[in-house]
Amino acid sequence: MEKLQQLYAGKAKSVYATANPDYVVLSFRDDTSAFDGEKVEQLSRKGEVNNKFNAFIMQKLAEAGIPTHFEKLLNPTESLVKHMQMIPVECVVRNVASGSLVRRLGVEDGMNLTPPVFEFFLKNDSLHDPMINEYHIATFGWATEQQVQRMKALTFEVNQVLKQLFSDAGMILVDYKLEFGVFKGEVCLGDEFSPDGCRLWDAETRKKLDKDRFRQGLGGVIEAYEEVATRIGVPL
Ligand code: CDP
Repeated sequence: MEKLQQLYAGKAKSVYATANPDYVVLSFRDDTSAFDGEKVEQLSRKGEVNNKFNAFIMQKLAEAGIPTHFEKLLNPTESLVKHMQMIPVECVVRNVASGSLVRRLGVEDGMNLTPPVFEFFLKNDSLHDPMINEYHIATFGWATEQQVQRMKALTFEVNQVLKQLFSDAGMILVDYKLEFGVFKGEVCLGDEFSPDGCRLWDAETRKKLDKDRFRQGLGGVIEAYEEVATRIGVPL
């Protein structure tokens, strides 16, 4: 489907209209950002790796019965997705403590979290994506009670599928962030699932294979993404 005018440009992806108002083109760029857009660099091949990675994961999740916006790969850097109304909250599940949880609560990095922790954040860079709870979501009308319950249930279902998928390939799914939208009344998984929005560690060495390599200036960012992709069987 031919892409028409640009509707939106995010930090790493752009969205284009198509002739069909129900579908948009998601275009994955090489731009890589961290710290709410304060650190930005171009990483060669990132758009292509993340587009293909996301397509593979979204298909796995769809096979497991999780509704997603993904329709099909269009070319190396673009996918066709459902045109959803996005819910402005981020859903995070943590299997292992790292990142902001460690900074906030002073718990040990790498500690196993049983049961896994669930957190909501408001999607708002200028406010630095503050942590929120279900009361904020209800009071400010960001989602209905039913949508909140659905997002939580789907985020935990994703955990079951992906913890196993990465564990089978010798990796630990430490944590991840999901975003949802509404398409024809149904809550569906949107945005992307790629090493940009999750933490993945090698199970043996605990080597970081995700965007922390970029945040922490460790180098080998795309090489690590490609290694994860290859290990789980993403055709690159
Ligand atoms: O990454 P940071 O330490 O700032 O935040 P976090 O709350 O520890 O992030 C939890 C997980 O969500 C990590 O896998 C992040 O990569 C991801 N995340 C994201 O993709 N986008 C955000 N705006 C915030 C977190």
